[in-house]
Amino acid sequence: MAYKQYILTCGGTGCESSGGGELYTELVKEVNAAGLSNDVQVVKTGCFGFCEMGPIVKVLPEETFYVKVKASDAKEIVQENIVKGRPVKRLLYDVNQGDDEAKMEEIGFYQKQVRVVLRNCGIINPESLEEYVAREGYAALEKVLFEMTPEDVLEELKESGLRGRGGAGFPTWRKWLFTRGVESDQKYIICNADEGDPGAYMDRSVLEGDPHSIIEAMMIAGHTVGASQGIVYIRAEYPLAIERLEKAICDAKDAGLLGDNILGSEFSFNIELRLGAGAFVCGEETALIASVEGKRGMPTPRPPFPAVKGLWGKPTVINNVETNANIPVIILRGGKWFSKIGTETSKGTKVFALTGKIKNSGLVEVPMGTTLREIVYDIGGGIPNGKAFKGVQTGGPSGGVIPAAYLDTPIDYEGLQKLGSIMGSGGMIVMDEDDCIVDVVKFYLEFTVDESCGKCSPCRIGGRSLFNILDRITKGQASLDDIPKIKAICTAMSKASLCGLGQTAPNPVWSIMRHFEDELMAHIVDKTCPAGKCKSLIQYRIDAEKCIGCGACARKCPVNCISGEKRKPHIIDQDKCIKCGMCMETCKFDAVLHS
Ligand SMILES: Cc1cc2nc3c(=O)[nH]c(=O)nc-3n(C[C@H](O)[C@H](O)[C@H](O)COP(=O)(O)O)c2cc1C
Ligand code: SF4
Ligand code: SF4
Repeated sequence: MAYKQYILTCGGTGCESSGGGELYTELVKEVNAAGLSNDVQVVKTGCFGFCEMGPIVKVLPEETFYVKVKASDAKEIVQENIVKGRPVKRLLYDVNQGDDEAKMEEIGFYQKQVRVVLRNCGIINPESLEEYVAREGYAALEKVLFEMTPEDVLEELKESGLRGRGGAGFPTWRKWLFTRGVESDQKYIICNADEGDPGAYMDRSVLEGDPHSIIEAMMIAGHTVGASQGIVYIRAEYPLAIERLEKAICDAKDAGLLGDNILGSEFSFNIELRLGAGAFVCGEETALIASVEGKRGMPTPRPPFPAVKGLWGKPTVINNVETNANIPVIILRGGKWFSKIGTETSKGTKVFALTGKIKNSGLVEVPMGTTLREIVYDIGGGIPNGKAFKGVQTGGPSGGVIPAAYLDTPIDYEGLQKLGSIMGSGGMIVMDEDDCIVDVVKFYLEFTVDESCGKCSPCRIGGRSLFNILDRITKGQASLDDIPKIKAICTAMSKASLCGLGQTAPNPVWSIMRHFEDELMAHIVDKTCPAGKCKSLIQYRIDAEKCIGCGACARKCPVNCISGEKRKPHIIDQDKCIKCGMCMETCKFDAVLHS
């Protein structure tokens, strides 16, 4: 049935956790109460990307775009917008800009985005096979089954220039070609939905918002390389993605789109889910395979590569979720169309999870070659509270921090590598002047040390030693003699570790030595932390000139180490101070300083 109007609400994890589920229920209730259930349909979609402003509601066909909507706003939206035909101004995005009817595409956050991977997220109900089909869903599979040979598919992928989005950027067509070329009674297609990078949630959002696109892509891969079994390896912490994927698999099976003799063809394909326990190393392909086989998730040496000898010793294609999401579009629109988006060496778009010190955090999909400045300022809206930009961490624990001097660098695989970072899976964490770069890198090292499987000594021992040195640096206990030690450990780890985890763990450390040497030296030589983050290196004190003696800081101090008479300058007892920073936060007269 066609409805006159649609109310779309975000059903992604972010919006669901901030009241999106209740909002959906209320909207349905209000539409029913207004007697409009035959004319207006409320649809729970995938993520709109603009997570900072969620929960989001969009009304079609007018495209009215509401932000930060609460369940209690449902009645007003239905009564005002739907019944009376006038938007609820207070819920529109930034009414102060004078454009109180801002459509999605008029909002700065969306203007430079190109949604290929996220094409259906925020548009269709991810739990509806019909809605996916209405957006050309499974048309690529049909084309592959009845109009194309596997060689045609490989040719199209080659022309597209698609490279894996799981981190390494390996050409997808070549991986498929290797597997196709091996004779075997059984082959496997694995979708890597482990997504272990801190701050990254692109893959989860695609699975939550458009699960059928992944199923369709895996089937296309299966048909191309000659595999009949697919496995999605997904972390158990993604319950909503798992639920939607399971429903999509069931619905596709019931419709004859998955299972035996798909769409009446000779091709049969099944998909199963395997839940991972959330260990970062299990995202590494050989560890992932071990985990699927029921063994402890530990990497093994390559070659042999999984494309030739993978799951249960059989040829296996492993692709990332985002890589998969591109496949149906490439088949339908053609490799040539896809290759026009992006740069010379990196084609298509990339989805980034933009977080940290940024006004508009959320999921951002941009053509490869977009500059960091465009992402941080035009899309992300810049740094909050008037603070200065310090850097962007890309590539998670395997990447590095890119400083302000390179804001105009176009982002692609090679560009980021030249700057000592990597594309990684797409986590992008923005830092401001208050972030200490040494502390941030220490955080990443702590992560890799915790997540190392311990199988090889360069990673197990090198990671721990490197972390200990960085810890000493943040405590003012390091000396210049530690620099050559850092370099030696980093080199040994990159060269001798068995898998990518240990090989890339030194990357964040190299990046501070290269781009933030002054800040590193301030910690080692001057024993100071310019950002005021490293507790052992800072001291809070009260400026007697500015202090009016109101006593607010003394009342807030959790260890009662601030004293002074009323209306007289106060002082901090340095021996007792635990450096919590509460006094600085409390003082309205900027009288508390740190050094
Ligand atoms: C420590 C480590 C963790 C990884 N985690 C993931 C992950 O969570 N998701 C992913 O797709 N690839 C991850 N990778 C990369 C995979 O090993 C593999 O290259 C990728 O899944 C291949 O798919 P693609 O060609 O589509 O990128 C990881 C690699 C390493 C070394
Ligand atoms: S590099 Fe680290 S995570 Fe990889 S196999 Fe060696 S110990 Fe395990
Ligand atoms: S809050 Fe500020 S002004 Fe008041 S006593 Fe403390 S330092 Fe002085």
